[in-house]
Amino acid sequence: MKTVLVTGGAGYIGSHVVKALGERGYRVVTFDNLSAGHRWAVLHGELIEGDLLDKRSLDGLFAARRFAAVMHFAAHIAVPESVAEPLKYYVNNVAGTLNLLEAMRRHGCGRLIYSSSAAVYGIPRVIPVPEEAPPAPVNPYGHTKAMLEQVLRDMARAGDLAYTSLRYFNVAGADPDGRLGEGKDWAPHLITVSVRAALGRRAGVTVYGTDYPTPDGTGVRDYIHVSDLAEAHVLCLEPLLAGGESAVYNCGYGRGHSVLEVVNTVKEVTGVDFPVEFAGRRAGDPPALVADSGRIRRVLGWEPRFDDLRRIVETAWRWEMKRGE
Ligand SMILES: NC(=O)c1ccc[n+]([C@@H]2O[C@H](COP(=O)([O-])OP(=O)(O)OC[C@H]3O[C@@H](n4cnc5c(N)ncnc54)[C@H](O)[C@@H]3O)[C@@H](O)[C@H]2O)c1
Repeated sequence: MKTVLVTGGAGYIGSHVVKALGERGYRVVTFDNLSAGHRWAVLHGELIEGDLLDKRSLDGLFAARRFAAVMHFAAHIAVPESVAEPLKYYVNNVAGTLNLLEAMRRHGCGRLIYSSSAAVYGIPRVIPVPEEAPPAPVNPYGHTKAMLEQVLRDMARAGDLAYTSLRYFNVAGADPDGRLGEGKDWAPHLITVSVRAALGRRAGVTVYGTDYPTPDGTGVRDYIHVSDLAEAHVLCLEPLLAGGESAVYNCGYGRGHSVLEVVNTVKEVTGVDFPVEFAGRRAGDPPALVADSGRIRRVLGWEPRFDDLRRIVETAWRWEMKRGE
């Protein structure tokens, strides 16, 4: 049985991947400082509480076990916060990842799956955006992701490791078994925020920007169900373990939905007409961000199972109701 180290495995996406790996028979070790993650979210394997900024604890982790691969989710994730407190993001996301890469190199672990983001594209010229589009981030969060992709390219070229970088678009929804979902009270994502507004846990939803060159004037995004994303991680693990080359894949469905469409779908699914406020554009928000997902479908044979906005919202709704019980 192969052991996979999952950093940030107690967080939203990482916990869904830990579940998927556990169900496929992998041995899983989660490394998480629980700053945003939860012990209850780690359904398989062992949870080691530790911080990427603590080199000694990383060293101890790799000295004690042999990992076939590392999946690296641990990071700070809020774009507006990265603009207000850039250093916090460069330290945790960049320095933390460099510590991890150093420990991997020192202990001879040379396989990595990296959580990158559509934020590396900034405001893309072409929609749907292909992986070949030049990185052009417009906020510190996006810069941290693009910088680390550069580090990985250089390390791969030097023969230090082979990696798969997955550029997630807007991750949403919850485990269809109802065991996992977004656990952060401050989660910034539109579907979570809207569902919580429907439940009365928030006063309402603010829509930023109503004059974009999109069909209804609001921003368009590509929402991918977290379980389809988890499956993509499992799919790219095997070829990487078998000696495959480094690769970069967009993770989205290749179809966009506007902010208003999402809000209205949440109202329909929940049957609650919560308040919606309209505000100006937020700096750095692209009008549209939709993945060209041809590569991951073609190369890995990835076939999403939840490619339907209503379905995504339903799983999120079910999870939030359960969470509030
Ligand atoms: N949610 C999205 O839509 C989205 C989109 C693109 C990329 N991503 C990336 O996916 C990854 C996971 O995101 P998420 O939404 O699950 O976030 P999350 O905040 O739920 O999970 C991150 C986890 O990392 C842990 N962590 C943070 N800093 C750490 C450190 N220094 N040491 C150890 N653990 C640490 C947190 O406790 C948390 O459990 C991140 O790298 C994020 O940038 C997310």
